[in-house]
Amino acid sequence: MKTKRLILMFTISSILFSCGKKEELYEVEIPESVYATEEEVDNSPTKVVAKDGSFKMKGLSFNYSDLEPNLDAQTIETHYSKHHLGYLEKLNELIKGTDLEEKSIEEILTSLDSEKKALINNAGGYYNHNLYWEVLTKEKEKTPTGKIAELINRDFGSFEAFKTQFKKAGLDVFGSGWVWLVLTENQNLKITTTVNQNNPLMSFETEKGYPLMNIDMWEHAYYLKYKNNKSDYIDNYFKRIDWDKVNYRIELKSN
Ligand SMILES: [Fe+2]
Repeated sequence: MKTKRLILMFTISSILFSCGKKEELYEVEIPESVYATEEEVDNSPTKVVAKDGSFKMKGLSFNYSDLEPNLDAQTIETHYSKHHLGYLEKLNELIKGTDLEEKSIEEILTSLDSEKKALINNAGGYYNHNLYWEVLTKEKEKTPTGKIAELINRDFGSFEAFKTQFKKAGLDVFGSGWVWLVLTENQNLKITTTVNQNNPLMSFETEKGYPLMNIDMWEHAYYLKYKNNKSDYIDNYFKRIDWDKVNYRIELKSN
């Protein structure tokens, strides 16, 4: 595509040069096919493909700029195409040739012991980011409906009370980590936090549960736009949560 564009530019330049006189310049309509399609734009999420390995990048349900102004394109692009991809490729390297290659990511996470630091960081980093992207949406300010709305009201009293607790948990994360909304074994909602790339599926975590949604509190997730203003980052994250996806995860866990 770039080659075609260069050829066209050269052709137009040649015509203009050969005309010699300014008054003979004329506009050339560029055929629509010259423009890159969404898939052909160099920085599209679809371009982010891992080297061969057991696990793959799952893609995004939005383009990098679709969550503006709440989450900026540059942060999302770097986060997805560098940080997330990095965890995935390291995970694939670590499990290559082992029996973990045959397991699902959930099976790997639940079977890890606390000494397997490299696997914890990279299997966790892969899974945690998958969920983070899964629950974000290009639609704005959706509100909880259905089962999740019912459970939030039952377990926290109101959506505002839930948001206040979730936000406080995010502000209280010291260093790098995550905040989670999980479904416990007793089918209750609970807000938990984990350090680094740990998550509530890991057997050695004190607060376990099935992850329904999470927020990345690593600086790479917000610092470019929000600097040290974690409060604004969390408020804006809330404006992009897809509560239908959260309901879908509750259903997944129930079946
Ligand atoms: Fe991250």
